[in-house]
Amino acid sequence: MARASWWVAFFLATFCYSGAQTLITDEEEAKQWLEQYNTMAEHYFYLSEEANWAYETDINDQNQQAQVQASLNKDKFKKEAYDNSTMFDVDSFTNETVKRLFSKIKNIGNAGLRDQSKLNRLTQLLADMKQVYSTGKVKDGDRDLVFEPDLVNELATGRDYDRLQFIWKGWRDAVGPTLRDMYKEYVTLKNEAIGELGYDDVGDYWRSWYETPTFEADLEALWQEVRPMYLELHAYVRRRLGEAYGKDKVGENDPIPAHLFGNMWSQQWNNIYDLVEPFSGKQRIDVTSAMVAKGWDAMRMFNESEQFFTSLGLIPMTPDFWRDSMIVRPADREVVCYASAWDFYNRRDFRIKMCTEVTQDDLQTVHHEMGHIEYFLQYKDQPVPFREGANPGFHEAVGDCLALSVSTPKHLKEIGLIDGTLQEDDEADINYLMKQALEKIAFLPFAYMMDQWRWKVFDGRITPDNMNQEWWKLRQQYQGIIPPVLRDEKDFDPGCKFHIPSDVPYIRYFVSFIVQFQFYEAMCDASDHTGPLYKCDFYRSPQAGQLLGDMLKLGSSRPWPEAMEAITGSRAMTARPLLKYFEPLTTWLRQNNTASGVRTGWSQFEPWASSATKEAGPALATTLFCVLCCLFVR
Ligand code: ASP
Ligand code: SER
Ligand code: ZN
Repeated sequence: MARASWWVAFFLATFCYSGAQTLITDEEEAKQWLEQYNTMAEHYFYLSEEANWAYETDINDQNQQAQVQASLNKDKFKKEAYDNSTMFDVDSFTNETVKRLFSKIKNIGNAGLRDQSKLNRLTQLLADMKQVYSTGKVKDGDRDLVFEPDLVNELATGRDYDRLQFIWKGWRDAVGPTLRDMYKEYVTLKNEAIGELGYDDVGDYWRSWYETPTFEADLEALWQEVRPMYLELHAYVRRRLGEAYGKDKVGENDPIPAHLFGNMWSQQWNNIYDLVEPFSGKQRIDVTSAMVAKGWDAMRMFNESEQFFTSLGLIPMTPDFWRDSMIVRPADREVVCYASAWDFYNRRDFRIKMCTEVTQDDLQTVHHEMGHIEYFLQYKDQPVPFREGANPGFHEAVGDCLALSVSTPKHLKEIGLIDGTLQEDDEADINYLMKQALEKIAFLPFAYMMDQWRWKVFDGRITPDNMNQEWWKLRQQYQGIIPPVLRDEKDFDPGCKFHIPSDVPYIRYFVSFIVQFQFYEAMCDASDHTGPLYKCDFYRSPQAGQLLGDMLKLGSSRPWPEAMEAITGSRAMTARPLLKYFEPLTTWLRQNNTASGVRTGWSQFEPWASSATKEAGPALATTLFCVLCCLFVR
């Protein structure tokens, strides 16, 4: 009964004013309309999330159709609400919150597509791309390897050059070519949708969420600040990989083959810590084997994570969370394994979906996802349009920030994953910082280039016929890596990274990996930490928790610099805390590289070809790997 009456009130308001010439200037009326909007938004968003959850935790045609329909229903609501909202003279309003809510209601994304058949097609495409990615398999003899856990584990632990190449190429063959044409169509339709909202293209729309006119220049400045450190890390890792695999495989001055980093996208390199460990014979920094030895399972990992949050006085997970989350891969059906955290918009249902494995990587990811849930919980009583991060990067940073504390040797010892007395000498510290840098510093150029590529695709600087080649140019330019085998325009390597077929923007992770160190430093200060930043564990500090919680409660009700100010005392994004954290390692890397005669930077390769030359085989491929010039950065 209640639901029907919201409808009536909502649309009566619309009909009464639809013929009127003058805009409504009564702010009280606007507030009532916003309340109705909120109730209905909760309703449609909930139904859409439920259907999406059902689909992603049990991929089949019936669930897909229900998901597509629920998404279309939600879009219909969003579009109508947007249209109705234009009857108010928002510019004349004085209440900043009311104005901000109206401005957010206009961000209707794909729902901007007025042509219903096109919107149907786009919605179907999104579901299909997700399905292709999530059900992709690599044939290995008579076995079908799935991405999680098979490919992930092989890449993390495998050390055989050819086998790694098989896995790396196999995954790209499994999903890339199928996704290529779908992606092109998606780009066209999505640009059209966003164009109707008045944005230049999808990239322009995505960047607008940051409310920062100088956003691109600010990001470039941040990248330039951290790039010297990345180059030192890259050069050091290249030397060590050359020792492990041979200089014929990893050339001294060359970009590094992309399949040797323990990760499908060479985005985080912590899984090859063992190959690049600075000082051997120190305490184990990688605790995966300790987790296994001590009998940890997915539930234990989730419990430990929640315990960390509550030790700070933050909000615990809810009973529904524990009942309804999916924390291991089900054996009997296809699911979207890629970890994610869900807000069902009813202020009660919050869930994580994850195919958890007992590894340190996944322990990190559990904290990451729980950070999202904590944000959801903290802002659940905000109006729906404010139930977002201060900016998308803030949302990604919460769990990671806590995980910086959890990953300190001090804390790992506290939770029983390091035995014996802690070694706390300079060499042990450098080992620890190396592990952290492989995760945090190695990631930065990847996180930056992902959306450099997409922004260029959306605004036409990259055309549909050179998407793969331009991808590899950026991979080489920013990360200093090359594909181990020739690529061409039948391949679609960007599509082999989850966030691209799944329509999830990525610059948020670059922002996150900068700001999480700002949050961490602020929370360390609040907990009265003394000593080097990288040793800080704010476990059980209610002061640190309060500082974070107060910021999370704001959601996106205020522009992000205010949220930043609430937690750090200043309004800007800065790499200073990150650089401070890694300072001893940066110094060590410079000295070590100089002493080993290692130069930073890399020569330029063109590892792509027309399909004809690719078929011609490895000999021709090798000759095509021509060195154009040697540009050393130093
Ligand atoms: N949702 C996470 C990420 O994309 C999943 C992960 O960390 O594995 O941020
Ligand atoms: N979760 C993000 C990813 O998997 C960032 O680590 O790419
Ligand atoms: Zn995330």
